[in-house]
Amino acid sequence: MYSQAKVIAGGLVHIPLVIAVFYFILTTFNKRALKFVEETKTKKTGTKVVEPKKSAVSKAETSKTEQPKTETPKVVKKKHADVPVNIYRPKTPYEGTVIENYSLLKEGAIGRVNHITFDLKDSDPFLNYVEGQSIGIMPAGEDANGKPHKLRLYSIASTRHGDDFQGNTVSLCVRQLQYEKDGETINGVCSTYLCDIKPGDKVKITGPVGKEMLLPDEEDSNIVMLATGTGIAPMRAYLRRMFESTEKEKNNWNFKGKAWLFMGAPKSANLLYEEDLQRYLNDYPDNFKYTKAISREQQNTNGGRMYIQDRVLESANELFNMIEDEKTHIYLCGLKGMEPGIDEAMTKAAEEKGLNWSELRPQLKKAGRWHVETY
Ligand code: FAD
Ligand code: A2P
Repeated sequence: MYSQAKVIAGGLVHIPLVIAVFYFILTTFNKRALKFVEETKTKKTGTKVVEPKKSAVSKAETSKTEQPKTETPKVVKKKHADVPVNIYRPKTPYEGTVIENYSLLKEGAIGRVNHITFDLKDSDPFLNYVEGQSIGIMPAGEDANGKPHKLRLYSIASTRHGDDFQGNTVSLCVRQLQYEKDGETINGVCSTYLCDIKPGDKVKITGPVGKEMLLPDEEDSNIVMLATGTGIAPMRAYLRRMFESTEKEKNNWNFKGKAWLFMGAPKSANLLYEEDLQRYLNDYPDNFKYTKAISREQQNTNGGRMYIQDRVLESANELFNMIEDEKTHIYLCGLKGMEPGIDEAMTKAAEEKGLNWSELRPQLKKAGRWHVETY
């Protein structure tokens, strides 16, 4: 027999059971709903919801309980981390307008070498660069397979302030590649395109690239430059940074060291930027030295063509006195073919000073004082 009291008591006993069942249903539904919302968010934004790593959390928590350290942690900045690179890449190049394009050669010179300036002012993001970098040029047209031409690199010949000091142009020094094959004259694709473009033309530009040929920051560093032909391009930028008066006002870099340029050209008429270099010699006789090797007009001691490595040998003693000073940097730019000759000359020149070039060169390289860009 069930009394009324028993029925009530029995009912009351079931209440927690019913609550438990309801609670279970609710939490399961909530969890699923939350998961669905998170998944939808992830799909929409394409970002993964990254859980904080346990170790990172616990480290942060532990550090809270530790005594504060008196030393502030050192921020290790990668060398030249602030030098701009690849602002523009081949898939989305910047279309710069040609401002000027003129020959750098005198009457009777061999070949074609032009100074070409592009306007950068409409670039967004702004295509900025520093002395010693290169840019890529994508010539118009297609290759033999119907594909767009690949980019070619060119050393920047202007300072970051540009030839007009307004800070929104870049200049190049380009030799047209020409060679004979099976009795036919072959013209290089990009160098011919560049030598032929006219003011107002649009050119696809990439970059900037390169950290190998950057100048040191120190105003009292010594800069030895070994250039053949268009290898003068980065050196022109360095020399403008050092000796061009408006540029100096802009850059606030008061060069106090010694700059020594060894320049190789086939004929006097092929010497590049000669008037500017003579002006720097005149204005800064204690800071600038200029040694020319004019291969087809001068002879080396063996009666062969005079190359810059022959000039290096002639100046072995003075040059190695400079190299022994850790403030001296050496820059090599131009023909790849000159590298073995320069190495040989440096070996002999070092021997005369009782030094071993094969040991010294890697040391200079490691110290960031030996800079090579040949092509
Ligand atoms: P292409 O049409 O590409 O022809 C070149 C090809 O022709 C070669 O790969 C080779 O296969 C062939 N070839 C070349 N010579 C001969 C020969 N004698 N006989 C048979 N075949 C041959 N150049 C400058 O003028 N100024 C610079 O400041 C400059 N800076 C540079 C900086 C860097 C970092 C580099 C890597 C290169 C630089 N160059 C510079 C070279 C430039 O990038 C091009 O390589 C050059 O202009 C030739 O390109 P092109 O398109 O005219 O020749
Ligand atoms: P040459 O051509 O008389 O043999 P450009 O680029 O205007 O032609 O100038 C390059 C200069 O570098 C020229 O004087 C050229 O001489 C010279 N040159 C050529 N080959 C070498 C080499 N292996 N080492 C040093 N200089 C070289």
